[in-house]
Amino acid sequence: MTADLSTFHRDTQILHAGRDPARHHGVVNPPVYHCSTVLFSSVDELLETRRDRASGAYVGFTYGREGTETTRAFEDAVTLLEGGYRAVTTSCGLGAICASLTAFLSAGDHLLILDSLYGPARAFCEDFLRKFGVEITYYRPSIGAEIAELIQPNTRVVYLESPGSLTFEITDVPAITKLCRARGIVTIMDNTWGSPVCFRPLAHGVDVSINAATKYISGHSDLMLGIAVCTEAAFIPVKKTASGSGYCGGPDDIYMALRGLRTLSLRMKRHQESALRVATWLQGRPEVARVMYPALPGDPSHALWQRDFDGASGLFGIVLNACSDRQFAAMLDHMDLFKLGYSWGGYESLVVPTYPSDLRSAVEWDAPGPSLRLHVGLEDVDDLIADLERGFARLAAAA
Ligand SMILES: Cc1ncc(COP(=O)(O)O)c(C=O)c1O
Repeated sequence: MTADLSTFHRDTQILHAGRDPARHHGVVNPPVYHCSTVLFSSVDELLETRRDRASGAYVGFTYGREGTETTRAFEDAVTLLEGGYRAVTTSCGLGAICASLTAFLSAGDHLLILDSLYGPARAFCEDFLRKFGVEITYYRPSIGAEIAELIQPNTRVVYLESPGSLTFEITDVPAITKLCRARGIVTIMDNTWGSPVCFRPLAHGVDVSINAATKYISGHSDLMLGIAVCTEAAFIPVKKTASGSGYCGGPDDIYMALRGLRTLSLRMKRHQESALRVATWLQGRPEVARVMYPALPGDPSHALWQRDFDGASGLFGIVLNACSDRQFAAMLDHMDLFKLGYSWGGYESLVVPTYPSDLRSAVEWDAPGPSLRLHVGLEDVDDLIADLERGFARLAAAA
């Protein structure tokens, strides 16, 4: 391609980023390199790659764990979409979170972390970072510039996720990153909900943007992969930590994630359109006490979402009015389309009960009944609403 890809619109970039058919005999998609050993033609060449690693350039390829052209194609594509310097691929989204946190934190450092953080990331902070001497404070998602009051002389990292897991509050990312930049504090954000289509963390001042490519980027519920897009200053620490900790992605998973990426924009539009219809319908149901979806007018995060995001995904939460365990199970055990299971971001709809009170310490969770997380997939939206309607009928019948 002769034109500079960065001058094209995002939907064009998604199709062309990270591939160069002219280098691969005209084959449209980049090849899959299955690789552990990389052979060198001379000692000089081997020494050159040692110098490359020592300088932190990471241009050449030396060993499968550090990536191949397949990895680089995926990283280049997501880097272009998120406007970063370079990216680091990891074995899963949690791997990208753990590698990014450990890249910047040492014993005695202080970490400020969002209260509605993804559960297993919270467990990593509690079970590992604390054990290794990192001090942790959780902040409320609505904190914005008031985070300044929680910053300590030893605060090294502020971790964001917007919207937060399970309760879906949008954080004022630019207000927080502005304060952090001025103080030399590294910001890391989990961007999985919005994906590169709906939010570009680096354009809002974030240093490391994480996507669990397991979800929307790959989009088919058939692989595990993570990616951390970095600023120039953040790249070497994250790359060294990911490689040094063994967080490498598998070649076939990377290839499939890159293939899934090509339809990301189309899928996200449909997820948002259908989720908005389902969420609006749920708002009118007597069984539903609260819908937590920032794209919904009236949601407490709606104004911030409108200001900073280009779209929404198909994932949101609801709180039901009080009902018995039996009623709750009667509804969820027999769904035809909203199948019961973890994860999200694939083409299909999913539902899972959630327990926010187990994962909150800065904000008290108050709800009249049980909570659910819904992933609105690409099915016909009328079929999805009918599925939920049948679920509510079962709930009522089990009273
Ligand atoms: C918001 C968020 N971030 C990260 C992850 C972790 O991704 P993975 O399952 O690929 O480790 C998840 C998984 O559910 C998630 O919901």
